[in-house]
Amino acid sequence: MRQFLLLLLFVPAPESSSKSQSSWCEFGCDCRGDVKFTLCSRALFTRVPSRVPVTTELLDLSHNHITVIPGRSFGSIRKLRVLLLQNNNISVVEDGSFVQLEFLQRLDLSWNRISSLSEGFSLGLAALRELQLTHNRLSSLDSRSFLHLDGLQRLNLTGNAIHTIQMRSFASMSALRQLHLEDNRLTALRDGTFSMLRSLEVLNLEGNQVNETDVGVFKPLTSLALLNLARNNLSSVCFKTFLSIHTYSTHILLEGNPWHCDCDLQRTFRKLRSIQRLFLDDYYNLSCGAPPVLENYRLMDVDTELCLAETVTVLIITITVVITVLAAMVMGERTRKKKKSRHNIILT
Ligand SMILES: *[C@@H]1O[C@H](CO)[C@@H](O)[C@H](O)[C@H]1NC(C)=O
Ligand SMILES: *[C@@H]1O[C@H](CO)[C@@H](O)[C@H](O)[C@H]1NC(C)=O
Ligand SMILES: *[C@@H]1O[C@H](CO)[C@@H](O)[C@H](O)[C@H]1NC(C)=O
Ligand SMILES: *[C@@H]1O[C@H](CO)[C@@H](O)[C@H](O)[C@H]1NC(C)=O
Ligand SMILES: *[C@@H]1O[C@H](CO)[C@@H](O)[C@H](O)[C@H]1NC(C)=O
Repeated sequence: MRQFLLLLLFVPAPESSSKSQSSWCEFGCDCRGDVKFTLCSRALFTRVPSRVPVTTELLDLSHNHITVIPGRSFGSIRKLRVLLLQNNNISVVEDGSFVQLEFLQRLDLSWNRISSLSEGFSLGLAALRELQLTHNRLSSLDSRSFLHLDGLQRLNLTGNAIHTIQMRSFASMSALRQLHLEDNRLTALRDGTFSMLRSLEVLNLEGNQVNETDVGVFKPLTSLALLNLARNNLSSVCFKTFLSIHTYSTHILLEGNPWHCDCDLQRTFRKLRSIQRLFLDDYYNLSCGAPPVLENYRLMDVDTELCLAETVTVLIITITVVITVLAAMVMGERTRKKKKSRHNIILT
C-alpha cells in the first residue's frame, strides 16, 4: 500500500511537467483536445481562466462565480465558436470583451446580473448567430446595445426587466429571425421599434404589459410568421395594426389579455378573421376583462350579443325616421286636399 502511494507521488503528472498542450489546461477544466472542447463548468472560478488550449472551439464556463468579463479576455483562443457563460454572477462586461472572437457563433450569458450593454459589448461579434441574454437585469435597450451584431439570427432576452426599447435598437440586425422578449415590462409598442427586421420570423412578446400598439409597429416585419402577444394588457386593437402586416401568412396569439368586449371589438375581430393571410389561432380562447358584467366570459360566447344594443338602436332610429316621414307625407297630403277644397269653394 505504502509503495503504491509512493509510486503515485513519483509518477510525473502530465499537466504539470510537460510543456505539451495539456499544460495549458487550467486546473478544474477538462480539456478534450480531440474535439476541441474545454469544459470548466462548476469549477468555482471567480475569474475567466487564462490557461485554455489555443485550439479550443467550445469553452464551457457555466455555473461558476465569475463577476467581471475584462476586455480582451479571450484573445488567445481566437478559434472559439461557442462560449458558454450562463449561471455566473457577471454584472460587468467591459468594452471589447469579445473583440477578437471573429468566429464566435454562439454566446450564452443567461442567468447573470447584466444591467446594461454598451457599444463595446458587441464589438467584433459579426459572426455571432445566437445570443442568449435571458434572466439578466436589462431595463432598456438603445441603438448602441447590439450595434455590431450584423449576422445575428436568434436573440433571446426573456426574463429581463426591459420597459423601454429605443428607436433603432435592432437596426443592425437585418438577418435576425427570432426575437424573444417574453416576460419583460414593455407597455407600449412604438412605430420604428422593429424597423429593419425584415428577416424576422418569430416575435415573441408574451408576458409583458403591452396595452398600446402604434398602427405601423409591425409593418416592417415582412417575413413574420408568428406574433405572440399573449398574456399582455391589451383591451382593444386597431384593425389597421394587424392589417399592415404584409406577409404570406402570420399566426397571431392574443390569449390572456383583458379584452374590452364591445361591438367595436367584435367588429374588429370579425374583419381580422376574414383576412386570409392572418391566423388568430387562439381566438376561441380569448376572454373579456371588461365591462364588469362580461368579465371572464369568452368572447366567442358573447360576440353575437355585443352588437345587439347597437342593432336595437339602429332599428329604433330607422322606425322613428320612417314614422316621421310617413307623418310628414300624410300631413302634406291633408294640407294639399284642404287647399284644393278651399280652392274649389272659391271657384264655385
Ligand atoms: C454576486 O455578486 C454580488 C456583487 O456583485 C455579491 O453581492 C453576491 O454575493 C454574489 N453572489 C454569488 C452567488 O456569488
Ligand atoms: C429563451 O430563453 C428561455 C429561458 O432561458 C428558454 O426557455 C427558451 O427556450 C429560449 N428560447 C430560444 C428560442 O432560445
Ligand atoms: C396603458 O397603461 C398605462 C399604465 O400602465 C396608462 O398610463 C396608459 O394610459 C394606458 N394606455 C391606454 C391606451 O389605455
Ligand atoms: C393595464 O392597462 C390599464 C389601462 O389600459 C392600466 O390602467 C393598468 O395599470 C395596466 N396594468 C398593468 C399591469 O400595466
Ligand atoms: C386554449 O386554451 C386551452 C386551455 O387553456 C388550451 O389547452 C389550448 O391549447 C388553447 N388553445 C390555443 C389555440 O391556444
